[in-house]
Amino acid sequence: MRIGILTSGGDCPGLNAVIRGAVVKGDRIHGQTFLGIKDGWRGLVEDDVIPLPRHDVRGLSRQGGTILGTSRTNPFDDGGIDQVRKVMAHHEMDAVIAIGGEGTLTAARRLADEGINIVGVPKTIDNDLSATDYTFGFDTAVEIATESIDRLRTTAESHHRCMVVEVMGRHVGWIALHAGLAGGAQAILIPEVPQSMGQIAEWVESARDRGRAPIVVVAEGFTLDGEEHPDAPRGLDAFGRPRLGGIGERLGPMVEDATGIETRVATLGHLQRGGVPSAYDRVLATRFGTGAIDAVVEQKWGTMVSLSGTEVVTVDLHDATTVLKTVPRSRYDEAAILFG
Ligand code: F6P
Repeated sequence: MRIGILTSGGDCPGLNAVIRGAVVKGDRIHGQTFLGIKDGWRGLVEDDVIPLPRHDVRGLSRQGGTILGTSRTNPFDDGGIDQVRKVMAHHEMDAVIAIGGEGTLTAARRLADEGINIVGVPKTIDNDLSATDYTFGFDTAVEIATESIDRLRTTAESHHRCMVVEVMGRHVGWIALHAGLAGGAQAILIPEVPQSMGQIAEWVESARDRGRAPIVVVAEGFTLDGEEHPDAPRGLDAFGRPRLGGIGERLGPMVEDATGIETRVATLGHLQRGGVPSAYDRVLATRFGTGAIDAVVEQKWGTMVSLSGTEVVTVDLHDATTVLKTVPRSRYDEAAILFG
């Protein structure tokens, strides 16, 4: 069997560990041959495909990024199903393992519906895919954000300042919630729970009054009570896409004005996606890679590997891409008891 592998959408620590897990198991146990599809769906529609022998994946599990490259190309915008079929036939590719987030898995589901032999592997640092308990990359991102909060706290304490720390999470607040809890933040602000400026100021002042340097962790998709949704365009970027984010930079001066406490802002951005994956993410990603091979061998087309408790299982791609896994209110309230 000849299997193509692609990584698509935003990158994520652990992608290379998935590739290694799949290639090593597929080659060693099933004698399969692997092809690397460059830059996600772009490689599949533009025929940018390379051999991916086992020796090329040696030692890969600790390496960040993706050796295959990635893009946000949608195969249905750029050539569509006919082009995918043509490129697969040209390389005698029997199946595709598509590693990606919601957009990638939605495209994979549509291709599977059209009869393409495809298995998905979920990936996102945001941990917002509902059909899996955890995605690899999340643990690494939380670790980086937590270490950053620890570092920002010592400088904030020295200067008796408040620190606003913006973390990733356009639609959900999992990174903010976990890193904020681990780092002992005085306020955690997530897209799922809008807050008023008055409430944020109360938490910050209460921390200051107890002699603490207040740390406010804010997810990039957070909105103040009554404010427009962050997806509302704030101008266009160089690629003509709406500019998003910037909540940390906006919130810092507002906190300073409301509390009179000198405030600084740190936006962690892509630091959260770069570098080596944590041990947990290497293990999960490797298991997803070997699990994807099992799904291919069993011809479970149109499914995705998923973590259920501690077991790697498969779920239908239709169930995997419909609902975003948001932070439940009860989880937020549990953390909010510690604010201030
Ligand atoms: O992977 C998802 C995510 O990390 C979001 O939290 C963030 O908004 C987005 O990626 C940033 O993507 P890009 O790399 O395109 O700026």
